[in-house]
Amino acid sequence: MPSPITVKPADALRGEITVPGDKSISHRAVMFGAMAEGLTRISGFLSGADCLATVDCFRRLGVSVDMDERSGSVLVHGLGMRGFAPDRDPVRLYTGNSGTTTRIISGILAPQPFISELSGDDSVNSRPMKRIIEPLTQMGSRIESLKGNGCAPLRITGSALHGITYRSPVASAQVKSAILCAGLYAEGATCVIEPALSRDHTERMLSAFGADVTSELTAEGWAAGIRPCSRLDGQDIHVPGDISSAAYFLTAGAIVPGSEILLRGVGCNPTRAGILTALGDMGAEITPVSFGNGPEPEADLLVRTASLHGTVIGGNMIPTLIDELPVLAVAAAYAAGTTVIRDAAELKVKETNRIDTVTENLRAMGADVTPTEDGLVIRGGKPLHGARIRTYGDHRIAMAFAVAALAAEGETVIDNRACVDVSYPGFFDELTRITE
Ligand code: S3P
Repeated sequence: MPSPITVKPADALRGEITVPGDKSISHRAVMFGAMAEGLTRISGFLSGADCLATVDCFRRLGVSVDMDERSGSVLVHGLGMRGFAPDRDPVRLYTGNSGTTTRIISGILAPQPFISELSGDDSVNSRPMKRIIEPLTQMGSRIESLKGNGCAPLRITGSALHGITYRSPVASAQVKSAILCAGLYAEGATCVIEPALSRDHTERMLSAFGADVTSELTAEGWAAGIRPCSRLDGQDIHVPGDISSAAYFLTAGAIVPGSEILLRGVGCNPTRAGILTALGDMGAEITPVSFGNGPEPEADLLVRTASLHGTVIGGNMIPTLIDELPVLAVAAAYAAGTTVIRDAAELKVKETNRIDTVTENLRAMGADVTPTEDGLVIRGGKPLHGARIRTYGDHRIAMAFAVAALAAEGETVIDNRACVDVSYPGFFDELTRITE
């Protein structure tokens, strides 16, 4: 039985927070480090359950990974693109709650000379995998959904691949990354065209590891191209703070009266930073106070309480804030007027159907919300009251509604405190630390 946690209303939130490392970048640093020759040194690695699942998978493939979970220092002793030595064949890999691990690793396993079986928890095993099975199959890969339902468990029989041009129906960095990774091993060039630009960490990082990667806006959409290569070289990777984790404090700082929070070292890659625009459009006061300039831009962000108003969130902006929509919905419930979230049908295939889980929990707290086919309409400004929150094990629902609880009347009980460990171990301790 998961243990619940009670969150009380806060008078104000004040202090400094260094959010944990970016989840997407941490996964990729281990994956590409494993495929590279020599050592990859990672600083700021997120030791959350999802990224630890990635580490575990690569260990099973024979890669040695030294990890200091407290400091976030990780050493990946790469085996080279063709050097994996699985502990058995078929090798069984468990990806836990991590859709990112499941999808991207499939692109890396497809060209290997062994059989892999991938499965995750109930949530991962119910998420759509056809979106990677189809393009990888077009490239020549043999990948099978073992239950025939287009979901994991997957069985991947390594085979020779050829490059393709794939027009992805969804803007998904996981799909794009799986195809680009497979493209490294294919004969001929590979190109993924997506309807809107999804996060581009794979393009940036693979290029740093020595791959020939391009990214451009074409008449058909955003096109990411990759050429096959025979070796990647280990790198030093600094992982910035995760803006998806910062999102909870950016929102809490905006809605809880009298708050001022400084968030240190937050990754602000433009393909991820849509929350800054959306909260800004709602009237939030967020000031970048210093910038760091690596391959992944980062900044310290200062947030102060402001009175928020409704906005429209949709179109090309959606992939840049897809994981932040639950907490943006909470911001909308505290904002005056109506907020429309649209073009976000992808919410239905996240760790939970987040259109449903956000609606259910906002309603439980007394908000006026209508779910739509591709988003939510929230008529904000009504006072919210404490409630029992059903997370269904979804880390982002737990954290979004902890934020909602801070500005509500009365206590809120979140039914599962541990699920936040997927992306933000220590979240509730940090919240308590800055609560006055
Ligand atoms: C991720 C991509 C996004 C995001 C997920 C992490 C990644 O998923 O929601 O949390 O690291 O590539 P999609 O690719 O399905 O949009």
